[in-house]
Amino acid sequence: MECFRIVGPTRIRGEVTASGAKNAALPALAASLLSEGPLELSGLPAVRDIRTMRQLLGHLGVESEEQGEVVRLQAGEQTHFDDAPYELVKTMRASILVLGPLVARLGHARVSLPGGCAIGVRPIDQHLAGLEALGAEVQLEHGYVSARAHRLTGGVFRFTAPTVTGTENLMMAACLARGTTVLQNCAREPEIRDLATLLRKMGAHIEGAGSERIEIEGVERLTSASHRVIPDRIEIGTYLLAAAMTGGEIFVRGAISADLAPLLEKLAASGCDLEASNTGLRLSRAGDLKPRDILTAPHPGFPTDLQAQYMALMTQATGQATICETVFENRFQHVSELARMGADIRINGAFAHVHGPTPLSGARVMATDLRASACLVLAGMAAGGETIVGRIYHLDRGYEQMELKLQQLGARVQRLPAEPTRAA
Ligand code: EPZ
Repeated sequence: MECFRIVGPTRIRGEVTASGAKNAALPALAASLLSEGPLELSGLPAVRDIRTMRQLLGHLGVESEEQGEVVRLQAGEQTHFDDAPYELVKTMRASILVLGPLVARLGHARVSLPGGCAIGVRPIDQHLAGLEALGAEVQLEHGYVSARAHRLTGGVFRFTAPTVTGTENLMMAACLARGTTVLQNCAREPEIRDLATLLRKMGAHIEGAGSERIEIEGVERLTSASHRVIPDRIEIGTYLLAAAMTGGEIFVRGAISADLAPLLEKLAASGCDLEASNTGLRLSRAGDLKPRDILTAPHPGFPTDLQAQYMALMTQATGQATICETVFENRFQHVSELARMGADIRINGAFAHVHGPTPLSGARVMATDLRASACLVLAGMAAGGETIVGRIYHLDRGYEQMELKLQQLGARVQRLPAEPTRAA
């Protein structure tokens, strides 16, 4: 199984260009189901989850082909779509994003329930309750969700708590419903604004995306469109944290500071120098790191997807930092691996107390999810000696050419086809 071999400590120095946002690209791909006309998307990151979504759409009858940097998708005049099968859905939870578009476009859908994952149970009850509020009849049977409606009808639905893909699913479904839909307590992530921009290009009438209240006026059909997805703020944050952690300097081309405000505020307060421009964001860190507490929360709070990477940074700060994870119930699995590298972290329920600075030493570690993997790569670059990060298929889900980008930044990282046998 492929792994990363990292030799540290190294300082990250140089420039890197942000890839397109995986979590904007996934709903954008699913939106191709809403229209007969072709959808042309650019800026899609070459990562596994994007390939998985294209494979799922192909299974559902959506042809997609690459024309240079553009992916052209054509759902055509489908009379039916097949099921979204367990074999595909189990590998990527975001597959559930085809449910809303399928019901809206054809009046029925059968999608495997995604199941949980390492970071939590991750139910989809809000997705289903929202579709029922739009008039769909939803049934759960044999591990699949079936939803059908002669035609969805606009309604009012309030999410019990902000859900990113839940908001995206219902926004897409409401585009083709008869009448007006009002969604309340919506997620406000930049990826939701980006999806609304795409849907409006396709002819949808959407107001309020990015706020907690979104109003959608249903239309008879959506048309073709071309769209470039926004840069990946989580990838950008990961590289900024790499430079902060190793005491280096980085310029991330394409970074949009406004989308990273909660992270940038903490990085500045902990002693990093930040400089934003209209082409990107520069960070350098020369002096000691000060500990700063974080509490993860839906946007515009501190993103849960940067919690693990930020925790790695706080192992190098002088003093105690408290990290509270409020979004997922099991997102501290990287703590035990960081501890094996020398970190001093105490967990108490949703709180992790990080005592630093602790010198990190290279070790064989492995991750359980995409962002925990990134955290261990950052720690490996700051650690003395060799670190082997196993199960990097997690990384490949959401980071485009990570080892190449890090090599360009001076890191000593290589991808090995298999974990080296234990030293004799
Ligand atoms: C999206 O997942 C992202 N994925 C996740 O990124 C991200 O961590 C998460 O939002 C939170 O920001 C994509 O956009 C593809 P949620 P999503 O629904 O939509 C609960 C990554 O690393 N909930 O916002 O699945 C849920 O259990 C991934 O790129 C319900 O209870 O997350 C969680 O506690 C990991 N019922 C909370 O809401 C529901 O019906 C937020 O989940 C839906 C969600």
